[in-house]
Amino acid sequence: MGYAQVYDQWRNDPEGFWLSAAGGIDWVKKPAKALDDSRAPLFEWFTDAEVNTCWNAVDRHVAAGRGKQPAIIHDSPVTGTKHVITYAELQDRVARLAGALKARGIEKGDRVIIYMPMVPEALEAMLACGRIGAIHSVVFGGFAAHELAVRIDDCTPKAIIAASCGIEPSRVVHYKPLLDAAIDQAAHKPDFCVIFQREQEVAALTPGRDLDWHAFQHGVTPADCVPVAGNHPAYILYTSGTTGAPKGVVRPTAGHLVALNWTMRAIYNVGAGDVFWAASDVGWVVGHSYICYGPLIAGCTTVVYEGKPVGTPDAAAFWRVINEHKVRSFFTAPTALRAIKRDDPDGKLVPPLPTLQALYLAGERADPDTIHWAQTHLKVPVIDHWWQTETGYAIAANPLGIEHLPVKIGSPSVPMPGFDVQVLDEGGHPVSPGTLGAIAIKLPLPPGTLPTLWNAEDRFRKSYLDHFPGYYETGDAGYVDEDGYLYIMARTDDVINVAGHRLSTGAMEEVLASHKDVAECAVIGVADELKGQSPLGFLCLNKGSNRPHDEVVKECVQLVRDQIGPVADFKRAVVVDRLPKTRSGKILRGTMVKIADGQPWKMPATIDDPAILDEITLALRSIGLAKD
Ligand code: COA
Ligand code: AMP
Repeated sequence: MGYAQVYDQWRNDPEGFWLSAAGGIDWVKKPAKALDDSRAPLFEWFTDAEVNTCWNAVDRHVAAGRGKQPAIIHDSPVTGTKHVITYAELQDRVARLAGALKARGIEKGDRVIIYMPMVPEALEAMLACGRIGAIHSVVFGGFAAHELAVRIDDCTPKAIIAASCGIEPSRVVHYKPLLDAAIDQAAHKPDFCVIFQREQEVAALTPGRDLDWHAFQHGVTPADCVPVAGNHPAYILYTSGTTGAPKGVVRPTAGHLVALNWTMRAIYNVGAGDVFWAASDVGWVVGHSYICYGPLIAGCTTVVYEGKPVGTPDAAAFWRVINEHKVRSFFTAPTALRAIKRDDPDGKLVPPLPTLQALYLAGERADPDTIHWAQTHLKVPVIDHWWQTETGYAIAANPLGIEHLPVKIGSPSVPMPGFDVQVLDEGGHPVSPGTLGAIAIKLPLPPGTLPTLWNAEDRFRKSYLDHFPGYYETGDAGYVDEDGYLYIMARTDDVINVAGHRLSTGAMEEVLASHKDVAECAVIGVADELKGQSPLGFLCLNKGSNRPHDEVVKECVQLVRDQIGPVADFKRAVVVDRLPKTRSGKILRGTMVKIADGQPWKMPATIDDPAILDEITLALRSIGLAKD
């Protein structure tokens, strides 16, 4: 069956399609029904079923006789170590950790924050939570203490599992002081913390609160898998929205299992025994779905890579990992390839890659140059696919396991079964092919996608459902061509994408506005050759401020780093007298982006004072932007 038939099969009988996909999962109680529309327009899936995530990701493979197969390969050029964990070992380790959590009072429904770098223990912590029905929330290591504190207060964890440190090529990231500062800042306090001590930095433990990872597991009874309802949250993952408060995306257990299992064969064309590698981080959705859960649910071997695309030690690092571990499908962000291409423009460091069948790109728009480079030098299909933290897997892709459709460069190809993607005008009417509009998905969204935001149903409705009734609003703008291929062009909100990381300009503005000399500010994303976009701040200073501008800029850069974290990559700001606004007071960020990027732009009809744009252009030229 080709793509068109599979898509039609879903369209004609979504219930039958998903119940059949559910056959790939081991159930404690099988679902009799797929969709639960009793609270429409809020939808849930497999609510009458009972299941356990960890059983499906670990134990069932041991039970099927594959205990000796590697489950995780940890390849860490930053520490110079490599380590293989089989499925049988993983089962032991996860059951023990789950037992230790249970002994300390963690029960079904309790939240556990995980703040760890790219070590297998991060996956084990996620799986241990799933084993006992606890809900994890992984926080990316590049976030500062304040961001961690915000997440602690939002999901109120009973426990936090952290590592003593992370390792970036240029420095050791001291996780423990960040954790301590976050707990100090947060109103909610966890009952206890578990600290995984790494030999690169052993952290001082806080007596009465912190437990050592190994000591805490000593002598405990391993925990069995606890059945949970199909709609029980497997995890909460915070992602950037328009404001500084991150959105807690909820991932429902059963839909997550069914959908990820389906994607492993249909999109990535891998199955039990194959080696799959997503070069991302467990702190992002790609890491949740395709470093941890997807490959393990499908019985693959997953690679946990603690390194960079370049500099650890060079631009051949990815190819070494692929060849050494016999990777079949590989997933990364276009930024990573751009970094490699910059160091190795002619692909001289790319060896033959005999095991690799395809390269998958996501997280940001894949530019044609990067795709051409990869096609030429890797000599495998390069598959761009489009998805979001909210969906947890691809909305549009080229489903290699079903049919290798013709690739159209610049397009992540076609909608996957489950997603009825429409391009709408401002009034919510579908537009004709080739016309730009807001991309929306007809409700219900398929299994595994977010049913709501953690403790914020109103915000869920407002952010995603209210604007276009009957649809989920993706926040992306683009168009569909005559062949049904999608083109994702830009965000419609204040979200920018820096090195494949989703960031909120609103959150950065909130931090800048807290600086004592800043009266008003705006942050935009300007085009960046390596990272896709890069944040740039505009600062209007208080009337009385006579401080040197470069001093204020430096302090603002530091403030964003301290409050949001290095991952924001906020390194540039300019001081201006005024910001361009509409007569109703809305800052004209879109026009500023066009000017900064040297793109053609039109004077907005609603602008309050056109002369301000000349001042903005001059300020941008002073830092090398706004070139003609
Ligand atoms: N913990 C702590 N700090 C981190 C971090 C982590 N896990 N990850 C990144 N940082 C820090 C970096 O050290 C850097 O700090 P600096 O300002 O002191 O140099 C800052 O955050 C920005 O990091 P990064 O975006 O990684 O930029 P870079 O210039 O160090 O590297 C690339 C550039 C292209 C190599 C890198 O961005 C990359 O690998 N990108 C791909 C990312 C990816 O896979 N995204 C997919 C998500 S689906
Ligand atoms: P995240 O939630 O971090 O995965 O970011 C999701 C956003 O990244 C999407 O809404 C898009 O704006 C962007 N994005 C992800 N994948 C692609 C892609 N293949 N092409 C274009 N944009 C993408």
